[in-house]
Amino acid sequence: MMEKLAIYANEFGKPTEIPYFSLDGRTPLTAEAWTKLRAKWNHQHGITNVWNEPPVRGKERFKTDNFKSAHANQKPLKLLSRIIEASSDVGDVVWEPFGGLCSAAIAALQTNRRCYSAEINEDYYSLAALRLREEKLLYTQYAAA
Ligand SMILES: C[S@@+](CC[C@H](N)C(=O)[O-])C[C@H]1O[C@@H](n2cnc3c(N)ncnc32)[C@H](O)[C@@H]1O
Repeated sequence: MMEKLAIYANEFGKPTEIPYFSLDGRTPLTAEAWTKLRAKWNHQHGITNVWNEPPVRGKERFKTDNFKSAHANQKPLKLLSRIIEASSDVGDVVWEPFGGLCSAAIAALQTNRRCYSAEINEDYYSLAALRLREEKLLYTQYAAA
């Protein structure tokens, strides 16, 4: 339908310098190019659209040397894995802009995706790097800003 809309707009719309709905500003939109822009959704049977996980506790909770939780907002790996598997394929890149302890990176690497994370706080950054090392995701590279 988007391709038809683009064809119609380009044929009957007010003349413009670039084609209507063009992605590159030069060529008209195609159905294939539009389909590639759509979000992925890998459906898991029996899972509703309400995803509820309790706060992270026990062994999964990453602690500091004095046994305190290292980050107040550490997210559950089970939830992040579900999100990543539902919305990406093996080999895809996951972007985690607010890394914290980089739980999304761990879930991404465990489910055979690649991941880029950012964390602004140096202490959390160092703890996330330590956590990734401890998870034996050693092929991960770290870059300090
Ligand atoms: C809700 S926490 C993320 C917790 C993470 N999902 C986890 O499981 O550990 C949000 C993080 O974003 C970081 N942050 C805030 N602003 C940022 C920025 N501009 N760039 C990168 N990280 C940022 C904070 O320091 C904080 O650690």
